[in-house]
Amino acid sequence: MVSKLALAVTDLRPTPSDQTGPRHVAIIMDGNGRWAQARGRPRLFGHHAGARRVRQIVESCPRLGIKFLTIFAFSTENWARTQAEVAGLMGLFQRYISKEMSALHAADVRVRFVGDRVRLDPKLVALMVELETLTIDNDTVHLTIALNYGGRDEVARATKRLAEDVSAGKLRPEDVDESTFPCYLDTNILPDPDLVIRTSGEARISNFLLWQSAYSEYEFIDTLWPDFEVAELEHLCQTFGNRGRRYGKAE
Ligand code: IPE
Ligand code: IPE
Ligand code: MG
Repeated sequence: MVSKLALAVTDLRPTPSDQTGPRHVAIIMDGNGRWAQARGRPRLFGHHAGARRVRQIVESCPRLGIKFLTIFAFSTENWARTQAEVAGLMGLFQRYISKEMSALHAADVRVRFVGDRVRLDPKLVALMVELETLTIDNDTVHLTIALNYGGRDEVARATKRLAEDVSAGKLRPEDVDESTFPCYLDTNILPDPDLVIRTSGEARISNFLLWQSAYSEYEFIDTLWPDFEVAELEHLCQTFGNRGRRYGKAE
């Protein structure tokens, strides 16, 4: 139970009073395979195009008032794809981190990874840690990359750690509530997403941020991820400002 203070500090950071757009945007980057297939190319070609798209989106965040950007790169279910596609994606993640590391740092982006690292290649994990460590003091944009992430897996791992703390006498069962439980999630110090976007026309969440998105607004758009442009993100941020978020209250 280490992160309660950090959680409180992050949550209390004020949203600028003139901000009507979302402060935390989470994106299910879907449609790379179909984008490639439409061009008669292998699926991996689409994943490379998708990775290139990430940079422009991250760069646009300060202007759009997005302080936290969380992107779904690989789910716990994606291991079920062909060995070739999985290997290609894992190689792409390594290359992406090596290539983007200095630009992300120069742009004052703090990078975190969420998901279970146990099944990942140690070389990839070492790069993830290097990027997290290099950017730890950056604060302009907080980029969280969900890699081998599944919402159910995250909740199960969190519950295991919580149970361990209870049995070690560090936490009393009566202190487990909606504010202590998320401290055990991978996302523990992040605020919940205001807006979750899924590209590619699928209207499902595919195991993304199950706990955290309880009150997020959702946008399911037809654009395939490699075609997703900053202008569309900007439009979604503007539309977000018109939504009435009631959190169960009556107006
Ligand atoms: C999203 O694109 C990227 C990952 C899941 C890794 P897809 O690969 O799922 O693309 P489609 O949905 O098959 O088009
Ligand atoms: C969700 O996309 C996971 C990522 C974008 C990383 P999928 O393509 O894996 O989801 P399903 O299989 O269509 O639900
Ligand atoms: Mg897909």
